[in-house]
Amino acid sequence: MKKLIIINGPNLNLLGKREPNIYGSLSFTEFLEEIKGKYNTIEIAYFQSNVEGELIDKLHEVGFDYDGIILNAAAYTHTSVGIGDAIKAIDTPVVEVHISNTFGREEFRHQSYISPNAKGVILGFGLQSYELAIQSFL
Ligand code: DQA
Repeated sequence: MKKLIIINGPNLNLLGKREPNIYGSLSFTEFLEEIKGKYNTIEIAYFQSNVEGELIDKLHEVGFDYDGIILNAAAYTHTSVGIGDAIKAIDTPVVEVHISNTFGREEFRHQSYISPNAKGVILGFGLQSYELAIQSFL
């Protein structure tokens, strides 16, 4: 069975409540249940943290074993050399996702430390961005 993991960064635990005009009103738990049911022939693990080092530790933990990582590093996308380096250090391919179209937003969101090291980037499709990333690994 193919093993994928979705890793979400800071503030994404508040999906559904947080700026619903940008990020929608569905919680990630609800979305994940839906998606696990739909793609029930693969294993989809989930990890969320608001702490940069914990995201790096998780990338190290799964990065030599899993078939694919779907990473929304949220605000750390735009700041974290450490997460960018962690992606370089591991074997498992990473697809970068964003719910919003970061290029249509503030200038500081146009910079990504993830993109140069990612297999691909999917952004701007709401929570469907995660589903498209899953499909890219099938
Ligand atoms: C985000 C975009 C980031 O700029 C922002 O900091 C987030 C969420 C997105 O999924 O659209 O927290 O990664």
